[in-house]
Parts: sequence; C-alpha cells; structure tokens
Amino acid sequence: MIIKPLTRGFICLTAHPTGCEKNVQNQIEYIKSKGSIEGPKKVLVIGASTGFGLASRITSAFGSDASTIGVFFEKAPRERKPASPGWYNSAAFEKFANEEGLYAKSINGDAFSNEIKQQTIDMIKEDLGQIDMLVYSLASPVRTDPATGTRHKSVLKPIGDVYKNKTVDFHTGNVSDISIDPCNDEDIANTVKVMGGEDWQLWIDALKEADVLSEGFTTMAYSYIGPELTEPVYRKGTIGKAKEDLEKTAKTIDADLSAIKGHAYVSVNKALVTQASSAIPVIPLYISLLYKTMKEEGIHEGCIEQIQRLYADKLFVDQVQLDEEGRLRVDDWEMRDDVQAKVTELWKEATTETLPAIGDLNGYKTDFFNLFGFEVEGVDYEADVNEVVNIPSIN
Ligand code: NAI
Ligand code: NA
Repeated sequence: MIIKPLTRGFICLTAHPTGCEKNVQNQIEYIKSKGSIEGPKKVLVIGASTGFGLASRITSAFGSDASTIGVFFEKAPRERKPASPGWYNSAAFEKFANEEGLYAKSINGDAFSNEIKQQTIDMIKEDLGQIDMLVYSLASPVRTDPATGTRHKSVLKPIGDVYKNKTVDFHTGNVSDISIDPCNDEDIANTVKVMGGEDWQLWIDALKEADVLSEGFTTMAYSYIGPELTEPVYRKGTIGKAKEDLEKTAKTIDADLSAIKGHAYVSVNKALVTQASSAIPVIPLYISLLYKTMKEEGIHEGCIEQIQRLYADKLFVDQVQLDEEGRLRVDDWEMRDDVQAKVTELWKEATTETLPAIGDLNGYKTDFFNLFGFEVEGVDYEADVNEVVNIPSIN
C-alpha cells in the first residue's frame, strides 16, 4: 500500500516501514562511524523500540557488539493497517543485527506486568545466561500495578498554582497563550506510579532473584531537568515528582547491587522530539527555540548522538562522569549558560509571526514526522510498500 501520514494533534496514526528502516540504518551508520565502545556485551533494553531506548540498543549492539534483548509495547501491522513505528524500527534493527551475526531478540508486551518480566527472564536464561546491563527507557501514560490490578494514569500538570505561558501548535505554527490548572494529590501519586522508579526496582528485584545479573552489572534510566522556563510543567510539576522518584530509586538499586559490584545510574538527557515529549504543553515551543540555538552553535544532537556520547564519554570510561547529585549529564550542552540565555531571550519574542525566523519549527516538524518514518531523506513515498513486516524473533 501507499502510506501517508495521518495526524491527530500530537500523534500520527500511521507509520512508514521503509522510512523507519532508513532511520534505524542511519543511526547504525552513525554509531559505526564513531568507532567501538568498551561497553557491556549482554544488554536488556526496556522501551527499546523508539527514542532513547532504541538509540541505546543500537549503540550497544553496533558500538560494543552486544547481544540485545529489547522489550517494548508496539502495535503489530495488519493488512492495510500499518504497524506503530516502534514495530518497524525493531524489525529493521533485528534485520541489520542478524546480518552482522549479532544476537537480537525482542518481546512485545506490557513491561509493567509480571508475565513479561518472567518471559524476559526465561529468554535470558535460555539464550544469554546472564546480562551485564539493563537500560530502562520506558515512557508510558498508563501503568497497571501488578500487585493491585489498579490502572494508574499519569498527568502532565503543574503543582499548586495555575500555570500560564505560551505554547505552539507545531503543525500550524500558531503561538498561543495557555493556562494549565494545577493537579490534585492523586495526580501526583498516579504519575509517580507510572513514571517513577517502582517498576525499574521490580525489574531489578526479579532479575536478581532469578540470578541472571552478572558481576559488575550496570543499570541506567533516563531523566530530564530542563530550564526554569519549563519548570512549572516539567521538573516542578507532576512528571518532575516522578523523575525525583526515579532518581531516588537509582540510589536504592545502586545499594542493592553492591553484592555483585553493580551500579545503577540515572542519565539526564536533552529535550528532544519524541512521541512522549510532543504531548507535553509548552515543551514544543521550548524545543523549537532550543534547536535553533543549538544548531547555530553546532551542538545540536538527536537521540543517537546523545547516547553515543553518554556511553563513550561519560559512562564507559575509567572514571564515570557524574554531577554532584551522582547523575550522568548529557543535557550539559542544552543547559549551558549561553544557550539558556539565548533561548530565554527568544522566548520573550516568540509569536506566531516571529517564530518562523527565530525558532526551528521546520526542524521540529521534520523530527516529528521522522519518528513515524515520514519525510526521511532518500525514501520514495509514492512507492507501494508491504505494510505487513515481521520482526524476525517474534513472527
Ligand atoms: P519514547 O516514547 O520514544 O519511547 C518509549 C518506549 O517505551 C517505547 O519503546 C515503547 O514501546 C515503550 N513502552 C511504552 N509503554 C510500554 C509498556 N507498557 N511496556 C513495554 N514497553 C512500553 O520515549 P523517550 O522520549 O525515548 O523516553 C524514554 C525515557 O527518556 C523516558 O523516561 C523519558 O522521560 C526520558 N527522557 C526523554 C526526553 C525527551 O525529551 N524525549 C528527555 C530526557 C529524558
Ligand atoms: Na525509549
């Protein structure tokens, strides 16, 4: 079939298999061009199909020749009904990994559930024996707590006061004022349930219990801080509470792993266009001004550049590079004083009329469509493609 983007607000209902494959291939080529990394060899990635998790899987496999198991929650294709992009990404990843003789298997299902944890443990035991790294890169709006069966929904809201600022509809370029009402107490608890550290801890507990973690095991999850500008809706909002919890969990897990000389880290990453971040109000306007500024400075990075630098310069080096709170920081360039000063200045000037010149709205839009395999260079979108693509280890 011929597949075109079909958008509804900040989501896209279709995805293009050839475009997704090309994206994965480009990321693999980038990693190969940067040379090898002395990283772990048996890696489990939770949230492995898109964004930072996919970039982590690619960096481990093609930077360190690692065997990888990827867990994700994606929609399989049906006749005339394209899959979700993470499905096509994972199909492409496995294809390229297999071509190079790299072990790669995937599990498609709810990572929050006991069943998927058990299935993953069985696969590790059968195929790898033990793992030496777990990257935890889940982003989800909902989680069913396996202990209670309760389905929790996260929200993206400020805490305490109404937050008023501006935002952009990146499809139309229209900049408008928004007002977001504060959350209630349940919203905070629910968001922490979904995006905090509890499930990461449950994974580690289950893997440890099954004795599938090797000596010197490393685990890492991803966090975000961002500037004062977005604080009310991010770091000091409901999602920020979840990130605080995630960072606290890293310390607990780190202590739990001392018997096997293991470590747990949080890496604070840069603001990037992903399916998760497009849904947060205000962030798209911030990102479009940030992209413009960082591209002008020659310091713009996407997920793959971020994770490559994280592995090669911060984590798998003689002395792990941590901030005073014990976190890895690849948001260092985003948070540079000169970058933030510039973005703050542009923020004041941003209107529907000025944004095309002062912001990188086109960069935002292109990145958004790229997430779904559209607007990827070198892809013929008029060509008839087979929407039913298998993930080798699943079908
Ligand atoms: P993403 O939306 O691209 O990736 C989410 C992944 O989680 C996908 O692989 C998806 O299949 C998987 N997933 C979702 N629900 C699942 C479930 N129930 N079971 C199994 N897999 C499931 O998100 P992104 O942006 O890569 O986020 C990953 C982490 O990075 C998150 O913790 C996020 O907060 C963090 N981060 C994101 C930043 C950004 O600007 N996008 C910046 C800094 C950190
Ligand atoms: Na991810």
